[in-house]
Amino acid sequence: MAKIIFTTVENDRIELEATSGTVMSLAVDNFVEGIEGSCKGVCSCATCHVYVKPEQMEWLGQPSDIEQDMLELKEHATEYSRLCCQIEINDGLDGLELSVAEHD
Ligand code: FES
Repeated sequence: MAKIIFTTVENDRIELEATSGTVMSLAVDNFVEGIEGSCKGVCSCATCHVYVKPEQMEWLGQPSDIEQDMLELKEHATEYSRLCCQIEINDGLDGLELSVAEHD
């Protein structure tokens, strides 16, 4: 079981728990404001853009080339950006804190 903590653009803090699936699905299923998942997780919409806490970046490994390419199109992307449809939940992510990105 991993607890994933989201902070929305409005600064609401939402703590959710899951054992599997993607972070995007967890957010969409629980109506986290600002995570839309329009492409259903095939890495083509970037409506699941989040910022990872700097000290937790290494928990996630490197983004794929496709994810990186999508992020480069985002005006608000930073070095801490990820597309959360590409993050598979596992116990090692317990305590992951993500800030929902503003939409471009
Ligand atoms: S849900 Fe479309 S890129 Fe993540």
